[in-house]
Amino acid sequence: MVRPSRPSCFLATLSSTLLLLSSASTHDCNPTASQCTRSFLKSISSLYITAQSLGESSAFITSLLSPAGNLTNPGSNLTWTNSGPYANITAPSFLYKENEIVLSPTSANSTLSVPIKIDFHRSAHDTRRCASFTELIAASNPGHPYVIHTRMEFSPSTLQPVMIESVVTDEGDWLFNATGTLSLARQEDWPIIPLNSSARNSYEEIQALGDAYFNRFGNANVTVPWGPPCIRIEGGLPARGNLTASGECIQEWPSTIIVPWRRYVVDEEVGVVDMFVGFPGLDRSQGETPMPDSHVFRVEAGRIKYLHTASSCVEKECGLNGTFFGSEEGMGQRSVGKRSVRRGKAWRLGKW
Ligand SMILES: *[C@@H]1O[C@H](CO)[C@@H](O)[C@H](O)[C@H]1NC(C)=O
Ligand SMILES: *[C@@H]1O[C@H](CO)[C@@H](O)[C@H](O)[C@H]1NC(C)=O
Ligand SMILES: *[C@@H]1O[C@H](CO)[C@@H](O)[C@H](O)[C@H]1NC(C)=O
Ligand SMILES: *[C@@H]1O[C@H](CO)[C@@H](O)[C@H](O)[C@H]1NC(C)=O
Ligand SMILES: *[C@@H]1O[C@H](CO)[C@@H](O)[C@H](O)[C@H]1NC(C)=O
Ligand SMILES: *[C@@H]1O[C@H](CO)[C@@H](O)[C@H](O)[C@H]1NC(C)=O
Ligand SMILES: *[C@@H]1O[C@H](CO)[C@@H](O)[C@H](O)[C@H]1NC(C)=O
Ligand SMILES: *[C@@H]1O[C@H](CO)[C@@H](O)[C@H](O)[C@H]1NC(C)=O
Ligand SMILES: *[C@@H]1O[C@H](CO)[C@@H](O)[C@H](O)[C@H]1NC(C)=O
Repeated sequence: MVRPSRPSCFLATLSSTLLLLSSASTHDCNPTASQCTRSFLKSISSLYITAQSLGESSAFITSLLSPAGNLTNPGSNLTWTNSGPYANITAPSFLYKENEIVLSPTSANSTLSVPIKIDFHRSAHDTRRCASFTELIAASNPGHPYVIHTRMEFSPSTLQPVMIESVVTDEGDWLFNATGTLSLARQEDWPIIPLNSSARNSYEEIQALGDAYFNRFGNANVTVPWGPPCIRIEGGLPARGNLTASGECIQEWPSTIIVPWRRYVVDEEVGVVDMFVGFPGLDRSQGETPMPDSHVFRVEAGRIKYLHTASSCVEKECGLNGTFFGSEEGMGQRSVGKRSVRRGKAWRLGKW
């Protein structure tokens, strides 16, 4: 099947506002190109950020499907029909999920339909998996701060969306504090790592680091290479480990938690692996049911440099009944050498 490459072609169908504000490029409408390129993924993530800031879910989704994409069943699962010049595009139903709940991206209930003032964003692009990752921090959004991690996956042959999923966190989610997340994130630098730089790692190496991190939760023998500054942004709080004289970051870990449902976005250019996972035991009210969770890692020279987590609770504060921030350990103002956030949580959960 011959399909126009997306960047310029799909932009033609956006609403004028979205089009006006979109920074996606408009070159490259080459009818023979159908590969999943970095520029395709970058244009999509840039468009996503614009669409979310405007709450233009319909324009965004329509543009992803095809110029003739047509949402006929905005119910819990989507069915699309196409007509016009692109009638032969068999647009599959794709899944749109927020915190593991399938819903219509264009319904009023979808976060994509709500305009959100975005203070900070960062994206990564994985041409091998034809997937993108975007972190959105909205601390100054009037009345409703958010931190959102979104993973979008496309068919490499048709460039049709296969899955768009987000961990949408707000008040009451795991250590949620968008102001804290924003101020911590702004202190970090995640530049492109040049091909000839010794800090650059391969796709496999970067993914393996993310896996090692999660494997360590269930196996004390796993080593997780981790360098300075030895802090992970957990929700909105800085969870610090101990930095040894040789520059190794020592964190505290449980050893009994098997972390399932791993979905990756790996980008060697920026040394990023994001993993959407299910995190068992996070929400006390949910038993061992894995909770929606995303961890994004910045890897340099084979070690974790930065890490941000977004974890969704079912019950407010994951069922911890107001003991979330205030504790004997002073979780809201932890400093080096103090009990880590996860340890604090585990200690309360009585399982780590
Ligand atoms: C979408 O498809 C339906 C059924 O084919 C049609 O009635 C409707 O006019 C179409 N809407 C748009 C905006 O093209
Ligand atoms: C939606 O589609 C998914 C995947 O095919 C399926 O597992 C799920 O049961 C469907 N949900 C509804 C409400 O139809
Ligand atoms: C659809 O595909 C068939 C077979 O490849 C072709 O004959 C037909 O012209 C196509 N229709 C459109 C609208 O492109
Ligand atoms: C939207 O959310 C409301 C309240 O939770 C619910 O009653 C309604 O069924 C939802 N609608 C859709 C389309 O999911
Ligand atoms: C959230 O983070 C900000 C900025 O670091 C801090 O001033 C505030 O006390 C934090 N709130 C809570 C509840 O920890
Ligand atoms: C890497 O390549 C750039 C551009 O070719 C060059 O300027 C730089 O000196 C090189 N760096 C190393 C560490 O080789
Ligand atoms: C960890 O290593 C020890 C010592 O080699 C071994 O006895 C134990 O079985 C290992 N545990 C796991 C979970 O692999
Ligand atoms: C960090 O160092 C402090 C003080 O030496 C110690 O009490 C604590 O157990 C260390 N934590 C880890 C994770 O090694
Ligand atoms: C939180 O409150 C609920 C309802 O009162 C109770 O069932 C649950 O055990 C409490 N959880 C904790 C961690 O105290």
